[in-house]
Amino acid sequence: MRELKFNHSDSLISNKELDKLEKKLQSEIQQMNLAITKDYKDDRASINLPDDKENLEKVKSLVKNKLKLNPKYLIVVGIGGSNLGTIAVQEAILGKFYNQTNPDLNVLYADTVDSDLMQDIISIIEPSLKNGDNVIINCISKSGGTTETIANFEVLVDVLKKYKKHYERYVVVVTDKNSKFWNFALEKGFEILEIPNKVGGRYSVFSSVGLFPLGMLGIDIYELLKGAKLMKDKCLNLNLKNNPAALSASLIYQHKLNGKTIHDLFLFSTDFESIGRWYRQLMGESIGKEFNKKKKRVFEGITPTVSIGSTDLHSMAQLYLGGPYDKFTTFVRIDKNKEAVNIPNFPEYSDLVKGLQGKPLSEIMDAILIGVQRAFKKGKRPFVEIILPNKSAFSIGQFLQLKEMEMMYLGYLLGVNPFDQPNVELYKTETRKVLEGKNTE
Ligand code: PA5
Repeated sequence: MRELKFNHSDSLISNKELDKLEKKLQSEIQQMNLAITKDYKDDRASINLPDDKENLEKVKSLVKNKLKLNPKYLIVVGIGGSNLGTIAVQEAILGKFYNQTNPDLNVLYADTVDSDLMQDIISIIEPSLKNGDNVIINCISKSGGTTETIANFEVLVDVLKKYKKHYERYVVVVTDKNSKFWNFALEKGFEILEIPNKVGGRYSVFSSVGLFPLGMLGIDIYELLKGAKLMKDKCLNLNLKNNPAALSASLIYQHKLNGKTIHDLFLFSTDFESIGRWYRQLMGESIGKEFNKKKKRVFEGITPTVSIGSTDLHSMAQLYLGGPYDKFTTFVRIDKNKEAVNIPNFPEYSDLVKGLQGKPLSEIMDAILIGVQRAFKKGKRPFVEIILPNKSAFSIGQFLQLKEMEMMYLGYLLGVNPFDQPNVELYKTETRKVLEGKNTE
């Protein structure tokens, strides 16, 4: 199995309701089909990233170049849409313990301005720099003016400068063309990669934002894009049943209309926790809107929550199965794990928990998921299931593309603009004023 599967037989939404939504979505699916002919000029521009061979080649060549420096650390400086996708893909494919597996290149993320976090990063890289090792700083900011990112970047450049005469060789900037940061990077002689103007942060994982750091870590970015492309083509289909993004959006939308204002992404893989955080941003920022497209104040939103199986069953299952009927759940499971781990066959342990001896752990996980889904069904709690073939770049590419397009369709159904984030900009502007000593209260 190479392709992701979407199973909606327990969604508790009727075919009649879906037929109506299919009609409602026709014009947006057509717009999506038009967007693929418009390069990066449409708001839906991110769907063209998987086809951008020119950018892929540019990124691959820069990766090759920077790997020649034999770096020991890669520090990704960026926040929100500028790092969540990278962390999600890195952990899903390489695992949460990647740095502990003794890789040639370790990765560290500097997002918020937490001085203890930054001090930890400095105390990890400084001995290495003293030792003569190389460190790459990859600073990513679409706007080029995010307070946290620029503050962290300055701190790290200061450390780098102490140990490297030509420190600019170790810096790669990813930003919008002609942003203040772009021009600054040009002036300093940093390498620069461009984010297409119409590609927003939370839709940018398949641009240089994700491709450069992921390529540095040895992830097959060609396969990642190939998976995304396969899914994109499916999600342009006018028939809802063959279009997983439109189908998923329709189900979430219909449940929202029926009062289910929480969407839980229940990931049955510890390594997918950061995919959950990525999706939380995607849904939170795309759907949570004060105004709809007609400029009417609507306070729209669906609250995205993330659960990890089976861990969170031991903290949240009581609420999910006994609490209010305000949630719609998407379970995600992996068909084939990277490695098989078997429970030994110890007769003397067999009475502790029956039925475990000699079984692979994945079988236990599957049994737990089946158990949860049965309990959901008995309680008439609606859910769908996404099955990923494995944790390859190809599979992860499919999943992220599905979710991005789902969000575009969901925005359309709810009548909000899924591409802007005006209220986020509001707090950013206010923060800048505070820092500049301007009082505007
Ligand atoms: O999705 C978004 O637009 C935001 O979350 C941004 O990605 C985040 O605020 C970082 O912005 P920037 O990339 O401009 O530094």
